[in-house]
Amino acid sequence: MFLLTLVSLLLLSASGTVHARPCVAFDVNWNLLAFGLDNKDWNAGQQPTWTGSGSASDITTSGRPPFDGNSTTCYLSQYTNAIYVLNGDSKNPSSVYIYDATALSWSTQAVDAGTFDISSFDAILDHDTNVFYALSQGTLFHLDMGLLKAANSTPLSWVNTEAAPYPSNYVPVMALAQNHIHFLDVPGVPAGSADIFVIHYSYFQPEAQAYPLPNGSAFPATFGQTASFFQQDNTARALVQQEFAFIPQDSSAVYVINVETNTTQALAGPSVKDPEATYFAGVTSLVQLTSNGVVNFLPYLEGSGNASTNAAATWSPVSILTSVAPPSTATGSSAAPSGTHGSSPSGSSSGSSGALAMSNVHLGLVLSAVLGAVACLL
Ligand SMILES: *[C@@H]1O[C@H](CO)[C@@H](O)[C@H](O)[C@H]1NC(C)=O
Ligand SMILES: *[C@@H]1O[C@H](CO)[C@@H](O)[C@H](O)[C@H]1NC(C)=O
Ligand SMILES: *[C@@H]1O[C@H](CO)[C@@H](O)[C@H](O)[C@H]1NC(C)=O
Ligand SMILES: *[C@@H]1O[C@H](CO)[C@@H](O)[C@H](O)[C@H]1NC(C)=O
Repeated sequence: MFLLTLVSLLLLSASGTVHARPCVAFDVNWNLLAFGLDNKDWNAGQQPTWTGSGSASDITTSGRPPFDGNSTTCYLSQYTNAIYVLNGDSKNPSSVYIYDATALSWSTQAVDAGTFDISSFDAILDHDTNVFYALSQGTLFHLDMGLLKAANSTPLSWVNTEAAPYPSNYVPVMALAQNHIHFLDVPGVPAGSADIFVIHYSYFQPEAQAYPLPNGSAFPATFGQTASFFQQDNTARALVQQEFAFIPQDSSAVYVINVETNTTQALAGPSVKDPEATYFAGVTSLVQLTSNGVVNFLPYLEGSGNASTNAAATWSPVSILTSVAPPSTATGSSAAPSGTHGSSPSGSSSGSSGALAMSNVHLGLVLSAVLGAVACLL
């Protein structure tokens, strides 16, 4: 009885009944927005202010999602200056919450998930078409957001596009660059290479593309997180993703993969090695949101105009967020981050044992398990 109670309560704790998670994103003016941090939303402004003596502004307003979803992820819709939030509301997991970053207001778009498994997927938002592409249970789905910066009364739908040509055990790691979806860590694809889906032709490229480091070595074939950088290309388009960061689960390095030159550059891995952290990239920086609600950044470009990669860049906290939403309160019960990855919930099992992932809620459950077990003995 004692063992059964203890084991079942520990299992309850390990599976994590609360999967809430804040998220970070940029608006089109490259202000850093942090949502659901200490149960509020914040605008930290542009990069030069992040480590200043000021504080981030509280932009919490009505209509926002509760950020109590299973593994919330946020995306910048560049042409509308809106942030789309997936999985931000456990009661309405398929709804897409839209933050209009110009009007500073929220609305909720009803979405019919159909056969799309909202609890297990990775997704990107395409630059030119404003269409989400997601890989879930081996199938590629899409969700056309039109040019919405506020919800439409007509529900949208996740559409089953086609089966992906990848093994069924593939836990997707997806990154967007130049309207190509890069799939990393596909079983059978060598380290340093990615499989590609060409969005405009709806085409899975049969051969993998190699992105070697200058010394000929390769980024590892392993699970991790990605974030795409926005850059000026040779067209008049708005800044477009031409490079993306790949952060392996062990945080050993940040690999910046450039799809124009087909090369990879290795930068410093995050100082906070948190397998549950999520990432968002802007123009000049890569931002990390840890599972206990700390926001750190890597100033990956130096200079302006034709800025060049700052190979010596190091990670620092976005202190103006830490000062208003300290990590101790960011792990409060309703904002408790936990065992699932922001962009790849299905890949969470490998990382959820990490000590950093242990939230207060989990600790509370473990404590109550022990107390319950003791009570059973008496
Ligand atoms: C949350 O995610 C887990 C694991 O992916 C899944 O088993 C569970 O059903 C999800 N819960 C909700 C409310 O979607
Ligand atoms: C990068 O690879 C693609 C696809 O193989 C190729 O079309 C392109 O020319 C390559 N670019 C460079 C600069 O090598
Ligand atoms: C190549 O460069 C990477 C990144 O700097 C480094 O981790 C790796 O050890 C290097 N490999 C060799 C063979 O020098
Ligand atoms: C950046 O480089 C391009 C092409 O080399 C050049 O035309 C442009 O003037 C440069 N811009 C700046 C700000 O230096």
